[in-house]
Amino acid sequence: MKALVYHGPGNKAWEDVPDATVQDPTDVVVRVETTTICGTDLHILQGDVAAVTDGRILGHEAVGTITAVGDAVSGFGVGDRVLVPAITKCGRCVYCQRGMPSHCQTVGGIGWIFGHLIDGTQAEYVRVPYADTSLYAVPDSVTNEQAIFLADSLPTGYEVGVLAGGVRPGHTVAIVGAGAVGLSAVLTTGLWGASKVIAIDSNKFRLERAIEFGATDAIEVGPGTVSDVVALTDGLGVDVAIEAVGYPETLLTAASLVRPGGTIANVGVHGTPVELPMQDMWISNVTLTMGLVDTVSIPTLLKMVAGGRIPAEKMGTHTFTFDQFDEAYDVFGNAAANLALKVVITP
Ligand SMILES: NC(=O)c1ccc[n+]([C@@H]2O[C@H](COP(=O)([O-])OP(=O)(O)OC[C@H]3O[C@@H](n4cnc5c(N)ncnc54)[C@H](O)[C@@H]3O)[C@@H](O)[C@H]2O)c1
Ligand SMILES: [Zn+2]
Ligand SMILES: [Zn+2]
Repeated sequence: MKALVYHGPGNKAWEDVPDATVQDPTDVVVRVETTTICGTDLHILQGDVAAVTDGRILGHEAVGTITAVGDAVSGFGVGDRVLVPAITKCGRCVYCQRGMPSHCQTVGGIGWIFGHLIDGTQAEYVRVPYADTSLYAVPDSVTNEQAIFLADSLPTGYEVGVLAGGVRPGHTVAIVGAGAVGLSAVLTTGLWGASKVIAIDSNKFRLERAIEFGATDAIEVGPGTVSDVVALTDGLGVDVAIEAVGYPETLLTAASLVRPGGTIANVGVHGTPVELPMQDMWISNVTLTMGLVDTVSIPTLLKMVAGGRIPAEKMGTHTFTFDQFDEAYDVFGNAAANLALKVVITP
């Protein structure tokens, strides 16, 4: 089979590799029919993720059809159309039982294993461990181009942003960063009845998308950001500020937008320490949340997509085939210049 293989910082190739096979009785093999690229894949290619070594097949998001099943798999069969999520769960370890498969202990001590600790989904076929507890059947009414975004970015914006932030009816919500994750928070915040959804970004194209995705207001980031948000929220600041960029300054922006008693939900992956103004924050009774996505909201999100409540397909702006992986990475790697959000890649 062919797969996109990592060969050290800056190097990858679509090349022949041994076929994916069932190795453990709890495995299945999935023929990949749709995949995508995540910002994390770009970090891997820059050499930022030491656990990813030469020879690893990249990717942690896929929709496809099962072609082989291990003897212990009972919930899925050959021919089933499934979503392969970014997080794999054994279902039995202490963290899986706590509903936190992001820290599943059974395969390498973390739930994110595809394109990280084992071979990933940017390939013609992928081996999926713990298939019964990790895979999701895709309803007929949900297309591959919708389901693919439920593998990672939609659950991330929803779980680590909207749910962790505790969005409730009537709340005002600010979302700093309108990339795939921030826009996923925009798409799912309204479901909880937020009265205002304020998107903040430096990129005009993404702010336009945010309004199209259901934001009530869009603010181009600048010196007036805090006063603009305060003006939109009766002089109070927002109930929930979601950080979806991953820089110290954007977390500080989120912190400066929240009203007393509100919540700052940090979604961004930070690469450096962040100094927070605790001397001002403590007396504001604010809550700060953060975390790695569990993807446990996928069944809910699948129902909402099937019911027409979440137009997940809007996240895909560009389409490529497997032999165009280099082009797909170039477009996604320069997303702002290419007016891109997420790319859809098919055989
Ligand atoms: N916690 C998790 O489990 C998890 C999972 C996936 C991704 N993430 C993280 O979420 C973050 C967002 O991911 P993404 O894929 O949407 O990234 P992205 O790069 O597509 O989007 C980031 C957005 O932030 C905007 N931005 C940059 N600087 C800004 C600034 N100063 N003020 C306002 N906006 C600014 C950019 O224009 C862009 O639209 C990343 O840090 C990513 O690593 C976290
Ligand atoms: Zn990802
Ligand atoms: Zn587990």
